[in-house]
Amino acid sequence: MAFRTIIEPFRIHSVEPLRLTEPDQRRDAIRAAGYNLFGLSARDVMIDLLTDSGTGAMSRDQWAAIQHGDESYAGSPSFDIFRGAVQNLFPFKHIIPTHQGRAAEKILFGVIGGPGKVVPNNTHFDTTRANVEYTGAEALDLVIAEGRDPASRHPFKGNMDTSALDRLLTARGHLVPAVMLTITNNSGGGQPVSLANIRAVSEVAHRHGKPLILDACRFAENAWFIRQREPGQQDRQVADIVREIAGLADGMTMSAKKDPMGNIGGWLAVNDDDLAESCRNLLILTEGFPTYGGLAGRDLEALAQGLTEVVDHDYLRYRIRSTGYLGEALAAAGIPVMQPIGGHAVYLDARAMLPHLEPLEYPGQSLAVALYVAGGVRGCEIGSVMFGRHPDGTEAAAAMELVRLAIPRRTYTQSHIDYVIEVCQQVAASAAGLPGYRIVREPKSLRHFSAVFEPIPS
Ligand code: F0G
Repeated sequence: MAFRTIIEPFRIHSVEPLRLTEPDQRRDAIRAAGYNLFGLSARDVMIDLLTDSGTGAMSRDQWAAIQHGDESYAGSPSFDIFRGAVQNLFPFKHIIPTHQGRAAEKILFGVIGGPGKVVPNNTHFDTTRANVEYTGAEALDLVIAEGRDPASRHPFKGNMDTSALDRLLTARGHLVPAVMLTITNNSGGGQPVSLANIRAVSEVAHRHGKPLILDACRFAENAWFIRQREPGQQDRQVADIVREIAGLADGMTMSAKKDPMGNIGGWLAVNDDDLAESCRNLLILTEGFPTYGGLAGRDLEALAQGLTEVVDHDYLRYRIRSTGYLGEALAAAGIPVMQPIGGHAVYLDARAMLPHLEPLEYPGQSLAVALYVAGGVRGCEIGSVMFGRHPDGTEAAAAMELVRLAIPRRTYTQSHIDYVIEVCQQVAASAAGLPGYRIVREPKSLRHFSAVFEPIPS
């Protein structure tokens, strides 16, 4: 490479205005939102790093594909184009479109879940866990020990502990309907799973007669990390790595709001005919006819195009490098971040930054609120607010207290990110004075979306 700077492999074609606000305005806005960042109007946010889900910029060719959408209720040619693009990377037999990832989860676990069942995963994403638990089943996280240590530099911290999986399947295999594996491991820090580990998980699952189902939202980012970090993978096309991964599994749940570059969408894919039929029956009940599921024909076309763009090496090099740019700058400024830097997000270690707060004073929430007030930057707590409440009603500290700064795809420029770095530095400098929070009101499940907080007076 002749030059050090890795440029965005696109230029801007259409722009959206940002509304610039002052700290006083933001203090009022967050108070009115019950100190919950999900309660803000996005007009009051300057740099929105709440999620990389559905918030990315579609390409010129995706917008063009939208015009090609066929909205026939049954047998839309747009479905054939969509299914072809999915099967080009994930050659599963049955492709079942849903309106987003959690709808695929709801349908899958509606069929294979139920009281007494156990579903292992490296780390369940919050909606995955909630959908497993909603059926009365247990969601078990079996990520390797390094995956729970924010400072560990293991190159594949999303790996599953295959010995623990083997022990589970030996002891309680009759209760396990399927093994899940999340690539990349979002709740564990956007960390990749190695090809060797996917092979090993597949071997253990199949030896015990269990299907392996991928939660593959960020499959292309995971495959890029494999290409970069795993011995022997450097000369491969990402698309080939993805196909090999798919060949090790028996199905997938997918949120097309991530790597497929959609603003909405998802799918469920399986090889098993009986399972597919049961899932399609539920699909018709809850989402729609099997050739559109929960989507419009135009969305199916945009996703098909997005799937061709996301495996492009120039795109992935820029994508992973720009996330690394933010993370490395924060680390260089002495701000503790989850290492190595993940694919779609940088995770600030709020427990290390706010050691004066107990986990159930929600240091992640406190840090996220402070970043918003200081600079209008919206991140997301991934800690005891998100994971602290258990189905039996008890509350306990989560394994880690993180704030995720998720980077929407192709949306923000380097100067936006330089601004975020400055905001983080300013907040880190005054972190010792940040208050804890208590929850005033919370819903029965997924409380982080709508809980109301108040600062604990010092
Ligand atoms: N699985 C993983 C690993 C996810 O990250 C998500 C969504 C889902 C499933 C559910 O998909 O949102 O389309 O229903 N993650 C988003 C996030 C919301 O912000 O990380 P969905």
